[in-house]
Amino acid sequence: MSDRLVAAALAAREHAFAPYSHFQVGAALEDGEGRIHTGCNVENATYGLTVCAERVAVFKAISEGARQFRRVAIAADTENLTPPCGACRQILWEFCGDIEIVLANPRGKVETYRLRDLFPKPFDVSYL
Ligand code: THU
Repeated sequence: MSDRLVAAALAAREHAFAPYSHFQVGAALEDGEGRIHTGCNVENATYGLTVCAERVAVFKAISEGARQFRRVAIAADTENLTPPCGACRQILWEFCGDIEIVLANPRGKVETYRLRDLFPKPFDVSYL
């Protein structure tokens, strides 16, 4: 797959700190200026403090000043492509709205979704 966003997610996955689950995930978020912000999962011995690749990518991007996002790619080594967890869907909705989500594995399998379809009826600022 020649998509540079998928390539960035696959490369970020190589940095995963996953000594407990051995499940490595990479994420790459394209901002409104075409910049790519990457993340990998970062686990912790307490388990519960683990942060997913998607949230690392979003928080890195926000902390660098990015506010508009076009697409996010998520890479893991599964045949049934790995989707974002519930917590990450909430965070993606907060910062990216109905973003395009590209799921990928290292063997070139790719699927595309919209966040709205994976995360119907989200809670957000409109309720506050
Ligand atoms: N994980 C992610 O980084 N993103 C996902 O979308 C699913 C799960 C991580 C969390 C944990 O480090 C490992 O995968 C197993 O759950």
